[in-house]
Amino acid sequence: MLETVQKIQDESRQGEAIVPANGDTRTYSKKFYIESYGCQMNFNDSEIVASILNQEGFGATRNVDEADLVLLNTCSIREKAEQTVRQRLTEFKKTKKNKPGFLVGVLGCMAERLKAKFLEEEKLVDLVVGPDAYRTLPALIEEAGTGQKAINVLLSREETYGDISPVRLDSNGVTAFVSIMRGCNNMCSFCVVPFTRGRERSRDPYSILAEATDLFERGYREVTLLGQNVDSYYFVDEAKDETVTFALLLEKVAAVSPLLRVRFSTSHPKDITDEVLHAMARHENICNYIHLPVQSGSNRILQLMNRTYTREWYMKKIDRIREILPDCALSTDVITGFCTETEDDHQDTLAVMDYAKYELAYMFAYSERPGTLAARRYTDDVPEEVKKRRLSEVVALHRGHSLEGMQKEVGKTCKVLIEGVSKRSDAHYFGRNDQNKVVVFPRENFQKGDYVMVKIDDCTAGTLIGTIVPA
Ligand code: SAH
Ligand code: SF4
Ligand code: F3S
Repeated sequence: MLETVQKIQDESRQGEAIVPANGDTRTYSKKFYIESYGCQMNFNDSEIVASILNQEGFGATRNVDEADLVLLNTCSIREKAEQTVRQRLTEFKKTKKNKPGFLVGVLGCMAERLKAKFLEEEKLVDLVVGPDAYRTLPALIEEAGTGQKAINVLLSREETYGDISPVRLDSNGVTAFVSIMRGCNNMCSFCVVPFTRGRERSRDPYSILAEATDLFERGYREVTLLGQNVDSYYFVDEAKDETVTFALLLEKVAAVSPLLRVRFSTSHPKDITDEVLHAMARHENICNYIHLPVQSGSNRILQLMNRTYTREWYMKKIDRIREILPDCALSTDVITGFCTETEDDHQDTLAVMDYAKYELAYMFAYSERPGTLAARRYTDDVPEEVKKRRLSEVVALHRGHSLEGMQKEVGKTCKVLIEGVSKRSDAHYFGRNDQNKVVVFPRENFQKGDYVMVKIDDCTAGTLIGTIVPA
């Protein structure tokens, strides 16, 4: 299946059991097993859930058979994501039958979208908990323990879990995600997120900075600030009489230490400001990489999608980025076969991709989501095989661009943060450069978490290959 190319790398962990990476030495009387699906924010939520459960005496395990509680933190973004979870649930049937008291919980976006219907449709599920209700998990688990079904899918206008210190699950000890906001106020017509995550709210900057500082002190060297729409981060600090915009937040996090790299995702093209670009230019440790989803290159489709920008506006944004940050890498999301999309619209998308030459792209065939504006107003009229064919064209074009982007690096020297030992060879480390490109090189006498200068000798479509040179 060619649903995505690059995403496969990111999503390889999807559905895998995740356990704490830090040396947690507490002993727990009960065990939970958690699998996460979907976006980085959802993975980060699982770390918040782990923290809440640890407080309740539940320790994480990688082994379902050892668990008293199984949790699936789910995603609703496309139909396939939901099908994967439904399929996975059936695999717990046997354990459930053989193990009295064994609880199965569904968290996240699918829980929120389907609510009580989930309990009716999937008999083995005991708990349904939406993304804003994780603080009530202990009470819900207790309720479910008495044999009742437990559910809380209330969305909140305030909840940011700002005071909860996430338990880093399956972490490399070098890079971490920090959520800075929740929800989304945009109403892209194809998207289920506003329904599953609720209204947008920004987390207070103090707790963000405290978390980044704590991570740095524990040896982490990179944080990625997460939100559906980070550029609309906005916090009024009445005590200090200060308005914290995303640009200011970036500067504050960058000031934690010059050795702490800062990344962020996602930027909505309509909201990213010059201030953000200037902040990136001013701080060497704010990485030169922007995820700027275009979705479509056709003005007619962009309007139907309610993206509130035109292709011309989008391309001007790219010009501005290149003007202020000449070395900035760009990535994108593209949807093919949205309602009424014609061959001409599709060609417009290919043309914008040609203009942007993205280093990385997440590409999808349109999947209608119940309840969205598009589902209510428009007909999902592009045949599946046409969506797939257009997707394969988008993927092929992108492959060329990404390879070109990699080849441009050959011969150059770049600063790399070492993230760990390469999967392919113990004698090599892997890390990423400023532009988020993966670099592999012989280890020499360096450690995970060190910065090294690497001369790039060669590349594949996904990896730069090099050797360490003196700094
Ligand atoms: N907040 C981000 C995107 C979050 S969802 C933004 O505004 O760009 C991640 C990506 O999934 C989207 O960018 C979009 O490309 C894709 N997506 C969302 N809904 C989809 C749908 N119904 N069908 C196919 N792809 C979809
Ligand atoms: Fe969905 Fe649009 Fe919000 Fe992104 S900005 S989460 S695509 S509604
Ligand atoms: Fe999926 Fe929810 Fe994220 S729908 S992409 S897990 S916000």
